[in-house]
Amino acid sequence: MSAKPPILLAGNWKMNHGPKAAREFLQKLELPKKDRAQARLYVPALSLTSAIASTQEKTLPLQIGAQNVHYEKSGAFTGEISGPMLSEIGINQVLIGHSERRQFFGETNESVLLKTKSALEQGFEVLLCIGELLSEREAGKTESVLTEQLVHVLENQECKTHFGGRLHLAYEPVWAIGTGVVATPEQAQSAHGFVRSLLTKSLGSEKAEDTRILYGGSVTPSNFKELLACPGIDGGLVGGASLRPESFRALWDLI
Ligand code: 13P
Repeated sequence: MSAKPPILLAGNWKMNHGPKAAREFLQKLELPKKDRAQARLYVPALSLTSAIASTQEKTLPLQIGAQNVHYEKSGAFTGEISGPMLSEIGINQVLIGHSERRQFFGETNESVLLKTKSALEQGFEVLLCIGELLSEREAGKTESVLTEQLVHVLENQECKTHFGGRLHLAYEPVWAIGTGVVATPEQAQSAHGFVRSLLTKSLGSEKAEDTRILYGGSVTPSNFKELLACPGIDGGLVGGASLRPESFRALWDLI
C-alpha cells in the first residue's frame, strides 16, 4: 500500500480579492511548513499573477491555482481562459466543476468531463468538485447524484489513470456552501465513504486510497478539526474562511 497523500487545505476565493487584495493577503499570511500538509489557494484569474509573485517572494509553502479553465486551448470563446494561458504564468493547479460553475454558468457533467480530460492532458493537477443539492439529498438521491457526477470521469480511460496522481476530488454538498450549515461529521463521512467505494470499484483500493477527497461547505476554524478527524476526509476546500489570512492560518494550525 502507498502512503496516504498529505492533508490539503485549499481555499477558494471565488470572485473575491483582486490583484491588490491578493498581494495584501499574502503579505500578511504567515504559514509555517508542515510535513504532512499542503496549502493551496484558488484565486480569481486576474489575481493569479500577483498571487504567484507574492507567494514566491515570501517562499510560502502554498500553491496557487485557477478556479476554471476551458477545454479548448484557444479559439472563439469570449471571456474564457485556456490551459496554455495558465501554464504561461506558471499555474499548474486548477479547480473544475465547482457547483457555482454548474449552477450559474451552465456547466454539466459532460463539459466537466471535457475540461478534466483536457486539463489533465495538458499537465494540470485537477481538483474536481462534486456534491448534491438539498432537494436531491431530501429525495434520497445523494448517492445517485454523486455517481452520475463521477461515472463519466471514472469510465474515461485518460482520466482514470490520473486518480490519486494529478486528479483529486472535493465533496461539496451544495446546501452547505456559504450557508453556515456544515454537514455533520456523519453526513460527510458517509458521502466520502460512498465516493471512496465508487473509486475502489473502478480503480482498485490503492488508487482509491491515494485519491484525496476534500470536504467543502461552511468549513471554519470551529468545525474543521472534527471534520478532519473523520476517516476518509483528506482536507478541506474552504470559501468564506479562506478570505482572511487570520482564519486561513487558524485552519492550517488545526492540521
Ligand atoms: P464556504 O466555505 O464559503 O461555504 O464555500 C465552500 C466552497 O464552495 C468552496 O469551494
